Amino acid sequence: MHITGKTSLVGLIGWPVEHSLSPMMQNAAFTKVGLDWVYVPLPVRPDNVPQALAGLSALNFVGVNVTVPHKQAVMRYMNELSDSAKIIGAVNTICLQQGKYIGHNTDATGFLNSLLEANCHPQGMRVAVLGAGGAARAVVFALAQAKAASVIVLNRTAERAAFLVDDLVETFPNNALHFAALTPQSIMDLNNQLDLVVNTTSVGMSPNIEDCPWPSDVAMPSQTIFYDLVYRPLETVFLARAREAGAKTIGGLGMLIHQGAAAFERWTGQAAPIAVMRQACMDGLG
Ligand SMILES: NC(=O)c1ccc[n+]([C@@H]2O[C@H](COP(=O)([O-])OP(=O)(O)OC[C@H]3O[C@@H](n4cnc5c(N)ncnc54)[C@H](OP(=O)(O)O)[C@@H]3O)[C@@H](O)[C@H]2O)c1
Repeated sequence: MHITGKTSLVGLIGWPVEHSLSPMMQNAAFTKVGLDWVYVPLPVRPDNVPQALAGLSALNFVGVNVTVPHKQAVMRYMNELSDSAKIIGAVNTICLQQGKYIGHNTDATGFLNSLLEANCHPQGMRVAVLGAGGAARAVVFALAQAKAASVIVLNRTAERAAFLVDDLVETFPNNALHFAALTPQSIMDLNNQLDLVVNTTSVGMSPNIEDCPWPSDVAMPSQTIFYDLVYRPLETVFLARAREAGAKTIGGLGMLIHQGAAAFERWTGQAAPIAVMRQACMDGLG
């Protein structure tokens, strides 16, 4: 990579950002398609978000990705928001166009494309989403848009699941969206009636890799597909148990790659080199 005064700038704002795979993934993609662009990690403390955003325009950035904990905080500084960002209530990709800040959310597209890539078509499926945080909102949005037959959101804090469903029901009045507390009993009650279970909680993520959001005394049905958004480790205990039970499993790396690919395409107007981006992530994960 040869950076000059003509190199176009994009990056990632979050706190912290040092472990992010996005710089490796996006820079590999720019190199592959021969673009004179560079993607830089930009650690921004929560109280510096407005100053950091203002600086992007002054420094001629083309855009940025936004990660934890700023996905909601940046919204009020956008001149325009895409429909999905508005409905999900979070921005993970910003495009700067003639000094205007346009906020998008590519997590929902990323999730859906990773499902399709794994040959899982959610239309007509009965789905349980474990967790009700920021990622869950994008996942439920994608599933509702893709016409899943029903989506039940199960969360440790049931209230948060209720808010999520309440927010999305307005946009998807004809979809069967429900919520419940995430307990062994609620999972037992639903078991064998689900086509797809998506873990959007952080349970099982490194360093707590022995943890699993599925109760240890409830068997995982082999006919259900199990998806884990967590990708550190690549195979969580949740996915390993599902695999051992004979079920199809999908890991979270695909969503990371496809949300990045959607951001790449918004900024550059070119098709993203998915295979190169995946390889860069695999290299980054060692
Ligand atoms: N693959 C990808 O591209 C991708 C994209 C985005 C996120 N993610 C991953 O998805 C996970 C969630 O991210 P997020 O942004 O949604 O985080 P978040 O907004 O902080 O939400 C965290 C969720 O996990 C639940 N949770 C945390 N600890 C728990 C525990 N011990 N038992 C039960 N539930 C627990 C929380 O429940 P409460 O509401 O009860 O606290 C909440 O529902 C993270 O691991 C993140 O790395 C992956």
